Amino acid sequence: MSNFWQQLSKPFFALAPMEDVTDTVFREVVAGMADSEFLQVLYTEFASIDGLNHPVGKKNVGHRLLVSESERALLKEKNIRLVVQIWGKNPELFHRIAKEITEEYDCDGIDINMGCPVKKVVKNGCCSALIDQPDLATEIILATKEATHLPVSVKTRTGIRMHETERWMSTVLTTHPAAVILHGRTQKQQSDGLADWNEIAKGVQIRDQLSPKTVFIGNGDVNSVEQGKELAAQHGLDGIMVGRGIFHNPWFFQPSRTVPSKNEKLSRLLFHTQLFEKTWGIKKSINILKRFYKIYTSDFTDASKVRVRLMDSRSYDEIYRILGQEMKSEK
Ligand SMILES: Cc1cc2nc3c(=O)[nH]c(=O)nc-3n(C[C@H](O)[C@H](O)[C@H](O)COP(=O)(O)O)c2cc1C
Repeated sequence: MSNFWQQLSKPFFALAPMEDVTDTVFREVVAGMADSEFLQVLYTEFASIDGLNHPVGKKNVGHRLLVSESERALLKEKNIRLVVQIWGKNPELFHRIAKEITEEYDCDGIDINMGCPVKKVVKNGCCSALIDQPDLATEIILATKEATHLPVSVKTRTGIRMHETERWMSTVLTTHPAAVILHGRTQKQQSDGLADWNEIAKGVQIRDQLSPKTVFIGNGDVNSVEQGKELAAQHGLDGIMVGRGIFHNPWFFQPSRTVPSKNEKLSRLLFHTQLFEKTWGIKKSINILKRFYKIYTSDFTDASKVRVRLMDSRSYDEIYRILGQEMKSEK
């Protein structure tokens, strides 16, 4: 088995899987601005195994696993690994889909989502609901591992209503996954409150006892590379996963760079928009793209005015026109 997790330089950083965010376009944008010393792993959005198993569903879900040629080339150049994340509840189907992904998609690892707290998946017994179904969770991890030579990781939370880190991590680590990503919140917390890094540290201790070769990654509220490095050192973690931190700073994974100018920000926004249009055309709504605009339109004079103009725009052409005017006036 080729296990890339073992080859990463530590502490490493990974960009968290985020639905409607970490598609091939956003991953390419982030990777393009990253030092590969820091960003070493990217994730797809989560993809349903039931969807992937169905001819029509596969069409609807398949875009989540798309990797464009330009992204592929960039990842190769920077030696950044790509992990496909899947979710569901049927171990046999996990086996079948993991096999298919291994054969059909060019990725470096497969991750099982056991952390999503969203009602529609939890009420079906999937994702974070598996924390309360240890036998089924075990079956799922083992079935997935058996199907593939790729390393299988598990991304999860510390409990359902309260932290149950010892009990739950003991279950997960007994299956010896290649990596565990532990978000320091319970299912009930969703995104509220703060991630509890002492609970994440408990997970590291259980890893040391039960499965020392499993790579252990902490996740929750990390807002800078420096903070991530400190948390990794403090709690003995191999890596740090960053989600929403990227919305505050698209240059997150290039910590040495000076504060970008207005034109640098707008030219990144332009690149992002052009790539989005080229990749998705009319397949994805321009409104999905606009959600990203805030991350490029802050901390310069009249940033909010520029943002409002862009948010009010109705077409790619209008966006390009506004950007042309704004960037020209800055020169
Ligand atoms: C918009 C959004 C979408 C998300 N989608 C996923 C997903 O598809 N799979 C997953 O495992 N976690 C998902 N998450 C959770 C993140 O991966 C991460 O665990 C969480 O945001 C905590 O990390 P952070 O504090 O660094 O953001 C999502 C989070 C956000 C904000």
